[in-house]
Amino acid sequence: MNYVRISVKAPAKINLTLDVLAKRPDGYHEVEMVMTTVDLADRVDMTLREDGEITLDCSASFVPDDIRNHAYKAATLMKEKFQVRQGVHLYIDKQIPVAAGLAGGSSDAAATLRGLNQLWNLGLTRDELAKIGAEIGSDVPFCVYGGTALATGRGEQIAHLGAPAPCWVILAKPPIGVSTPDVYGNLRVAQIDNHPDTKQMLQAIATQDFSLMCQSLGNVLENVTLSLHPQVRQIKDLMVASGADGVLMSGSGPTVFALVQKEAKVHRIYNALRGFVKDVFVVRMLGAKEGEILA
Ligand code: C5P
Repeated sequence: MNYVRISVKAPAKINLTLDVLAKRPDGYHEVEMVMTTVDLADRVDMTLREDGEITLDCSASFVPDDIRNHAYKAATLMKEKFQVRQGVHLYIDKQIPVAAGLAGGSSDAAATLRGLNQLWNLGLTRDELAKIGAEIGSDVPFCVYGGTALATGRGEQIAHLGAPAPCWVILAKPPIGVSTPDVYGNLRVAQIDNHPDTKQMLQAIATQDFSLMCQSLGNVLENVTLSLHPQVRQIKDLMVASGADGVLMSGSGPTVFALVQKEAKVHRIYNALRGFVKDVFVVRMLGAKEGEILA
């Protein structure tokens, strides 16, 4: 099928666990993360350009429109690698907060890879797209697949998992942007005293055990970001006080999420947060396995 325009959803992710095992000689950290997709999504519209140019517009004017943008980088890489004659105009409808720990930029790049695979008729597999994604950023391969997965290495090695127990996710982002390199830069791996129990989280997911999932939440970057931005702790405390079953910061932050199963609690937490922070989202986990949600 030949397309001239294609629209692809780019959902956010949250970390159910984030453990750092070691600092690597290449400057990255060896991680173990359980990640899952949620239904807060950007949309990437791709329109074929016969003149070979790559251009980008975003609904949020502060988002860069050049190679600093992961989606633009994805298009440039695909064009160069496969010597594509045509170009593309990318339009990103931004819904996911930026620099928030939700992989918005990585997901835009992954959506661009998936979309251009069709728009430019490249016939690549998901695995091939994920490999290209790893050249753009550590979270991009996960975003190429979506669903729920254990990510290892620097985050680019993906093992697919089944869907976690269904629940509500309330996301709250304080009005600050967090730089991932800064947070990793402030982490002292030898001083981490509370590693998440990744095995227990895998068991919680395999058995769809909601309370075990809540008990197994853990992120070793949380303390670093909390020390840089005390508001993050206030949001966590507010969520706990409002009855959240589990609370954790996602990625390098500053977004914090609460997990709940009862709808009445969703309203209580949402209302408590709204007086305190502007960016609050109530979403569901899109826990399906590879391909089911991002076909
Ligand atoms: O891979 P990505 O470009 O998204 O990573 C951004 C930065 O985050 C890296 O340059 C590095 O400072 C840090 N990082 C890390 N270990 C990882 C992933 C990211 O130290 N596993």
